[in-house]
Amino acid sequence: MADATIIDGKAFAAGLRARVADGVAALKASHGVTPGLAVVLVGEDAASQVYVRSKERALVELGMNSFDHHEPADMAESDLLALIDRLNADPAVHGILVQLPLPRHIDTQKVLARIVPEKDADGFHVVNAGLLATGQPGAIVPCTPLGSLLLIRDTLGRDLKGKRALVLGRSNIVGKPMAQLLLQADCTVTMAHSRTADLPAECRRADILVAAVGRPEMVRGDWIKPGATVIDVGINRVPAVGINRVAAAEPGKTRLVGDVAFDEAVKVAGAITPVPGGVGPMTIACLMLNTLAAACRAAG
Ligand code: GUN
Repeated sequence: MADATIIDGKAFAAGLRARVADGVAALKASHGVTPGLAVVLVGEDAASQVYVRSKERALVELGMNSFDHHEPADMAESDLLALIDRLNADPAVHGILVQLPLPRHIDTQKVLARIVPEKDADGFHVVNAGLLATGQPGAIVPCTPLGSLLLIRDTLGRDLKGKRALVLGRSNIVGKPMAQLLLQADCTVTMAHSRTADLPAECRRADILVAAVGRPEMVRGDWIKPGATVIDVGINRVPAVGINRVAAAEPGKTRLVGDVAFDEAVKVAGAITPVPGGVGPMTIACLMLNTLAAACRAAG
């Protein structure tokens, strides 16, 4: 069988960003409003700093305002809540993103709940999660599952009715909202996780497999139904190894891998996202889209 189609998330995200940039220009022209996203980073986590920088760069590129709040790791929870109150009240701020994970002394759920739901650009607030789960309009949808759904639809067409989908991972950020979106698209959805019995057999039933567990190359080629669409949400940094992983790891060198063993899966799947260049760029593009949508709603 021919190798899978590689789903080019980077190209799709570039197109989406261009459409968002057009929307930003139109909103400026019609209402004099520039969409603005406040990005709050607490502490010095290296991966978070990389993500935050790419979000800030994308905002500026698309003509939006980026309000950056980089705070020390020992920031008091009460000070963070007070910052969110100020951002909630600021009319120039249409979206608020608090980069996760937060330092351990801060209660994440309390912080996320403090953001007014209309400015919750990540879609992590319980009101937005509840709107999505109950299929009501107006939910702000988390960026990674939204971007994944756009890639699935681009690959399989808009009609996903009756397809068997398996979501591997049950996080609030990806797994649960991904399952809700696929359910709304009339898929038959299974949620699998670390305690699922016979995970390979569950995966092999799936026409659409979304892997979001954060375990490097956990999903093997023989877990995949021939012809399935595979969406790999994992971004795992592992020691770099030589050709075909035979040589020993080079000290200090790393590479990015997904939750799916790509080299094996590409021989079985019908279509698959690479890591990097698959879901990752879609997450940022969808954050830009959520911010523009929030600004449009605020402008009336
Ligand atoms: N940390 C890892 N992924 C995300 C995300 O999508 N949003 C936020 N705020 N933090 C994250």
